[in-house]
Amino acid sequence: MARDRNDRTQVNSQGHLMIGGCDAVALAKRYGTPLYVVDEMAIRNACRAHRREFESRYPRVRILYASKALMTKAIAMMVSEEGLALDVCSGGELYTALSAGCPPDSIYFHGNSKTLSEIDFALSAGICRFIVDNMDELRLIDALADARGTVADIILRLTPGIEAHTHEYVKTGQIDSKFGIVIPNGDALRAVRHIKELKNVKLTGLHCHVGSQIFEVEPFLHAIEVMMDFAREAFDATGFIMEELDIGGGLGVRYNADDDPLAVAELAEAIGPALLRAAEKRRLPLPTLLMEPGRAIAGEAGTTLYSVNAVKHIEGVRTYVSVDGGMADNPRVALYQAEYDAILANKADQPAEGKVSIAGNCCESGDMLAWDVSLPEVEVGDTVAILCTGAYNYSMASNYNRHLRPAMALVRDGWSDLIVERETYQDLVRKDVVPARLMAAYRRAAAGAEG
Ligand code: LLP
Repeated sequence: MARDRNDRTQVNSQGHLMIGGCDAVALAKRYGTPLYVVDEMAIRNACRAHRREFESRYPRVRILYASKALMTKAIAMMVSEEGLALDVCSGGELYTALSAGCPPDSIYFHGNSKTLSEIDFALSAGICRFIVDNMDELRLIDALADARGTVADIILRLTPGIEAHTHEYVKTGQIDSKFGIVIPNGDALRAVRHIKELKNVKLTGLHCHVGSQIFEVEPFLHAIEVMMDFAREAFDATGFIMEELDIGGGLGVRYNADDDPLAVAELAEAIGPALLRAAEKRRLPLPTLLMEPGRAIAGEAGTTLYSVNAVKHIEGVRTYVSVDGGMADNPRVALYQAEYDAILANKADQPAEGKVSIAGNCCESGDMLAWDVSLPEVEVGDTVAILCTGAYNYSMASNYNRHLRPAMALVRDGWSDLIVERETYQDLVRKDVVPARLMAAYRRAAAGAEG
């Protein structure tokens, strides 16, 4: 088996792209396109790397998978089996985790706008921690826990005031953010004081998340300093002991050949010793370190396969290759100007002939999957593979233009299994309701037109 130029993919003797030991062209044929393909061992290896690298550099670590990146029952089971806890940020993610049999005491519930019913659902399930984002949520959890005669363990999400170099929409550490309680203006300290007066919540730790798709260690190290300073300040002012420090997710992945993300080991090598030093310097007990990787677990494990429906060459301008999926299954290009690499899965051994742009099938000019990618000659019926689509593709997919959400296949050692079925037209109309009065009027009009 040969490796491609970038050493990111494998190619078999027929010149077909291989994923998890499976021929991508055969997968496209068997399950249809568009198809999300998830490499099981890539997910498992990323989970293992996080545990191994952090646990070997810091005494108490819990890695939470940020399930917003990619959540299905099979994925939840796999990461759970690998010993990761789960970060969920909605009743739906919580329900999926519980349906998959994930232990409630490994579930951490995030979100800046949790509803009463979501909080009550989480309390009834006995989840591990609420990551509390604001004071209204705090009061609601306290009241609902009181009504249930229980005490909820909580972690407070704080805004450390840090700017990470990443896309505007995935920056979260800065003060002007919808997330978290602000440290620099004193809100966070007031919150810690207030919690001391509440009977039905117990504050176990503090949380921050500086952003996503981050390529440097500095924002993480800066966050540790700010959070540890605050932990010391809160201890002095209130006696609060931070048992857990959750520094969120954000490690970047390689979408295309220009991306040069940090290895998990590099991040762990920076964070582990930094936290040990930070605790010692401030004479604080060592907190348990929590991390919430999402993209770094799921991103590179995913590939989306599409079929080419049309090739339009505009002389001197551009060649558009239109495929059978687009922003409905991958909105990231339109939303964040994300750049992906593409491969012709059925001609993976052929040299590039020129540059083409891969267009989606939605009625919108911004619906593109990749601009100016070098590919062999593209023909109708070819199978296009877009790489690194495991994170925030399926989880952000929509039915825009009433396209069907694709199926997802899990591959490993030459085996493939469906883990999400393709939607059907019946699924699309299943929740549509036609009110009786509208139906009656429609029938009358139809009868009138006939008469
Ligand atoms: N923890 C918290 C509190 C978060 O808000 C996030 C991501 C994560 C962990 C996981 O971050 P990761 O390791 O995946 O970077 N839809 C965007 C990404 C939004 C990220 C939202 N929060 C995208 O497609 O790039």
